[in-house]
Amino acid sequence: MAEQKSLEKSLENDKGAEGKKKTKKHKGETWTKEGPRDPFEMLDSLSEEKQQEIQKALHLFSFGHGPPKNLQEAQRHTYRFWNTQPVPKIDEKVTSHGPVESQRPSVREEPYSLPQEFIWDTLNLDSQEQLRELCDLLNENYTEEDDNTLRLHYSPQFLLWALCPPGWQSQWHCGVRVKSSQKLVGFISAIPATIKVFDTELKMVEVNFLCVHKKLRSKRVAPVLIKEITRRVHQQGISQAIYSTSVVIPKPIASCRYWHRSLNPRKLIELNFSSLTRNMTLQRAVKLNRLPETTKTMGLRPMTIQDVPVVKALLREHLKAFHLSTCLTLEDVEHWLLPQDGVIDTYVVESMADTITDMVSFYTLPSMALNHPVHKGLKAACVLYCISKATPLLQLMEDILIICKTRSFDVFSALDVMDNKAFLEPLKFRMGDLHKQYYLYNWRCPEMASDKLGVVLK
Ligand SMILES: CC(C)(COP(=O)(O)OP(=O)(O)OC[C@H]1O[C@@H](n2cnc3c(N)ncnc32)[C@H](O)[C@@H]1OP(=O)(O)O)[C@@H](O)C(=O)NCCC(=O)NCCS
Repeated sequence: MAEQKSLEKSLENDKGAEGKKKTKKHKGETWTKEGPRDPFEMLDSLSEEKQQEIQKALHLFSFGHGPPKNLQEAQRHTYRFWNTQPVPKIDEKVTSHGPVESQRPSVREEPYSLPQEFIWDTLNLDSQEQLRELCDLLNENYTEEDDNTLRLHYSPQFLLWALCPPGWQSQWHCGVRVKSSQKLVGFISAIPATIKVFDTELKMVEVNFLCVHKKLRSKRVAPVLIKEITRRVHQQGISQAIYSTSVVIPKPIASCRYWHRSLNPRKLIELNFSSLTRNMTLQRAVKLNRLPETTKTMGLRPMTIQDVPVVKALLREHLKAFHLSTCLTLEDVEHWLLPQDGVIDTYVVESMADTITDMVSFYTLPSMALNHPVHKGLKAACVLYCISKATPLLQLMEDILIICKTRSFDVFSALDVMDNKAFLEPLKFRMGDLHKQYYLYNWRCPEMASDKLGVVLK
C-alpha cells in the first residue's frame, strides 16, 4: 500500500518517494519452515511490496539491473514471470514444432488488477490528443542510448502506421493511466499478423511498444501489461504472438544484429552515434563513406498504388526462402509499403518491359539529440525488404543509399536478416552494438540463424 502510494507520488514529485517509504509488515507473509514448498508459490504468497523488495535485492546482489543482456547472464537469471508463461525455458533444447499449450485457455472476463491508483485505458488513436499522449510517453520513456545522447522520436503518423494496419483492434492499444491525474504511464500493443513458421501458417499478433514510465520501473508493471494484452488477444481466439526485445528472456528463436551505414559521418561522430576507430581521422571517415553523386539503376522510382499487386507477388515469392516469414495481403502491402512522407518509402525498379523486377523498402526513424549544442536530431532509415531479381543487389542498395543521402538521412540501418548480409560489408555498413532477439509466444520451434528470418519487427 505504501509502495502503491509512492508509485503515484513519484510520478508527480521529481524527488521520488523512495526515501519516505514505510515498510508495512503483514501477517502471514513470513517464510515458514514447515517442509519444502514450491518457491514460486512462496513468492506469490508474499505481498507485492515484499516481492518487489526481493526482486530489487536480487538485481542488486546477483544479476545487476534489468533483465539479462546475453545468454550467459540469462542462464543465471530467475525468470519469475516468464517461467510461468507458455514459452520454452531458457536452457531448453527445442527440437519439436507446435504450441507449448495446445488447449485453448479459459479467458478471464475481467482485466488484471493494477495497483489501486492506476486504471486501464484503451487508447483511441483517432483522437489527436490521445495519439499525442502516446507519442509523449514513448518519446520520453521508450528508448535512449545508454549515454543519454539520443532518444527515438516517434511521430503521430509513424505510430498510426505501426499500430493501425488492416484488421487492427482498438482494445489492443492498451494503456495504463494514473487514476487521479489521468497521466498515461504505461502502454502495450498488439496488431494482427499472419506468420509462416517453417511450414505452418499461423494467425497471430505482433506485440510491440511495451513501455512503462521511467519512474515506475522495476515494480512488476510490465508482467501485468503483458498478461493483460495476452488476455485481450485470447478474447479474439488468438493464442500465438511474435515479438522482439534487446534483452534476453525465455527463449529466443533467433538473434540478429543491427548494422549501420554512415551517410553523414561527421554528424554521426559529433552525436556520438559512431566513433573514430584507431588510425581513422574524420577526413578519412568522410572519404571512406563517400557515395557516387547519381544512381545507376534505370527505372528506379517510388512505388505507387498501381504497383501493389506485383509487389505483393514479388514479396510472396521472395519470402518463401525463409523459416519465419510474414504473409501479406494486398491491403497489408498497401498499408505497410506504399510511401508516406516521413514514415515509409518503397522504391521499385520498372524494366523496359513495364514489369517490376526489384524493390527496396525502408522506414524512417528519427531521434532527438539530447542537449547537443549544434544538432537537433538524427534521421535514420531502416530497411524492411530488399528484393533484387534483375538488378545486382549491391548496385540496387548503393542507389538506395544515394537516394537516402540526397534526402538528408544521416544513417541507413539494417538487421542481418534475410539476404542482407550479402550487402552489409561490401557497402561499408558497420556492426552496431544492439542485438535484437526474436520470440514466439506459445509456439515451440527450433532456433534459426538470423538469415532465415523473413520478418522485420519495427
Ligand atoms: C521494458 C519495460 C516495460 C520493463 O519494465 P520494468 O519496470 O523494467 O520491469 P518490471 O519490473 O515491470 O518487470 C520485470 C519483468 O519483465 C520482464 N521484461 C523486462 N523487459 C522486457 C521486455 N522488453 N519484454 C518482455 N519482458 C520484459 C523481465 O524479464 C521481468 O520478468 P522476469 O521476472 O520473468 O525476469 C521497461 O523497462 C521499459 O519501458 N523500457 C523502455 C522501453 C523498452 O525497452 N520496451 C521494450 C521494447 S522490446
